[in-house]
Amino acid sequence: MFATVAAVNVSSLGFFDSGVGGLTVVRAVQELMPAEDILYLGDTARLPYGSKSPETIRQFAGEDVRFLISRGVKAIVVACNTATAHALPQLQERYRIPILGVIEPGVEAVLACENAERVGIIATRGTIRSHAYQHALALRRTGLMIHGQATPLLVPLIEENWIEHPATRAVLKTYLEPLIEKGIDTLMLACTHYPLLIPVLRELLPADVRLVDSATTCAEHLKKELTRLNLLETTAREGKLEIHLTDLSEEFEALARQFLKKSPGRIHRAVLGG
Ligand code: DGL
Repeated sequence: MFATVAAVNVSSLGFFDSGVGGLTVVRAVQELMPAEDILYLGDTARLPYGSKSPETIRQFAGEDVRFLISRGVKAIVVACNTATAHALPQLQERYRIPILGVIEPGVEAVLACENAERVGIIATRGTIRSHAYQHALALRRTGLMIHGQATPLLVPLIEENWIEHPATRAVLKTYLEPLIEKGIDTLMLACTHYPLLIPVLRELLPADVRLVDSATTCAEHLKKELTRLNLLETTAREGKLEIHLTDLSEEFEALARQFLKKSPGRIHRAVLGG
């Protein structure tokens, strides 16, 4: 009997996002735990998640998790802030497999910044409306000024690979203006797609504004959890990356290369709920 290729990832880590954004987290995990095999699901057919209702996001996230579990992953990272904000507690309650999100690591990364007093948060509309970051930060540090700014046009622009395009720059300028006016000293990139915009953000923001994202802290959380559960791959092998998308696009390969800083290898088409 032969198992199908898609069913043999018994020791993989599962990641999902609406599109390529979660690969920023994958990259941080590959750097910290190079031996781990990774199975990545991008729900590109239904992107963006950020403008959908919480109910729809929970439904999509549930289907993404079931896809990864059906492939036998040992732990899952919700590599999407929007899905973390709306679906993480429900997923953790429902499935016995370890499931981690990106918001707690993001909050921790902000709090680790010395002298962070005025924090701007840019994220999808879904993440901003959930108030997940605002609540978590306010709970953990009193006196912090927090300004949330929904930036719904950024994910479609990034997925279109318009990172260097003047239109993206103009949109970013409009989004950043109110945050600059409020004198932010720290900007949380609360969407896993946004680290790709760092070079443009650096040009548009005052030089002393710090940029923070959750990728590295999330990788550290994951390593701790895998170690605690005795699930960490400790051999000196080089882990594999397998990418599955619900819709294959010509742009994806080029984008994935930018996110991962290397070739993403072969990309498979995923059918959810099958
Ligand atoms: N990368 C996702 C996030 O972190 C993007 C969500 C979307 O598809 O709008 O929120």
